[in-house]
Amino acid sequence: MDIAQPRSWFLSFLLVCVLAPEVTAEAEATSDGPTAAQDITWLTDVPAAMAFIAAAEVALIGFFQDLEIPAVPIFHDMVHNFQDVSFGISNNSEVLAHYNITGNTISLFRLVDNEQLNLEGEDFENIDASKLSRFIEVNSLHMVTEYGPATAIGLFSSNIKIHLLLLMNKASPEYEENVHRFQQAAKLFQGKVLFILVDSEKKENERVISYFKLKKSQLPALTIYRTLDDEWDALPITEVSIEHVQNFYDGFLEGKLLRENHESEEKTPKVEL
Ligand SMILES: *[C@@H]1O[C@H](CO)[C@@H](O)[C@H](O)[C@H]1NC(C)=O
Ligand SMILES: *[C@@H]1O[C@H](CO)[C@@H](O)[C@H](O)[C@H]1NC(C)=O
Repeated sequence: MDIAQPRSWFLSFLLVCVLAPEVTAEAEATSDGPTAAQDITWLTDVPAAMAFIAAAEVALIGFFQDLEIPAVPIFHDMVHNFQDVSFGISNNSEVLAHYNITGNTISLFRLVDNEQLNLEGEDFENIDASKLSRFIEVNSLHMVTEYGPATAIGLFSSNIKIHLLLLMNKASPEYEENVHRFQQAAKLFQGKVLFILVDSEKKENERVISYFKLKKSQLPALTIYRTLDDEWDALPITEVSIEHVQNFYDGFLEGKLLRENHESEEKTPKVEL
């Protein structure tokens, strides 16, 4: 099947969803599962709330003026499904005022771009478990976010316009060490660049790899993409280092594109993956 090259790399996921609707369900099914109980932190004053938000890459806070409403047990039940999200609750009027909360609201706070996203008003009134779950899945961007059908939407609604991707096989022996260094690099670019991991072994990610005109044999690779003008670059690497990331980023901003250097390898007859 031949489909025109999408304009932006993230549009690949839309094509995947159209072609294979089961992909979404599959990805969601693996993202949770019952695990050890996690607590909800009760936030009784503004300093406690600020410290709580600053300490978590992603925090979800229920700001409830009334604890008897149906949303409260739905919020509680969500805790077990999202191990890498910190859950807090507050009904303290000073805390609510500090975060500009005017009615019952669930807010997601994330460090990567310092956003506060609110589920409020009509969306809050109509909340159910699957809507809340979707809200968290889409918006919980981490310092390094794994690309998937839900996070793709969140990544592209962020105000951060530069994406730096690591395309790599998660099952490879070098994965842990490389992703660790990728994490370290991400911290240096907080607020400027979104760091994204793409597991090259996932069938639904093949279009991301081909968007950047890479072949699996050239991975792992770093790629960079700017949403404003769809400019991009790609750099096959043997291992991730902070220096690699920094130089790649600096070169891209200066308009020095490296992709031609390795695109010549593609002159050999194309094989469909
Ligand atoms: C907040 O909830 C606690 C526990 O239910 C309750 O004792 C307290 O009065 C509530 N505070 C406000 C401001 O509603
Ligand atoms: C609350 O709103 C005010 C006025 O719009 C704004 O200056 C302030 O930064 C907001 N506070 C937070 C925590 O977002």
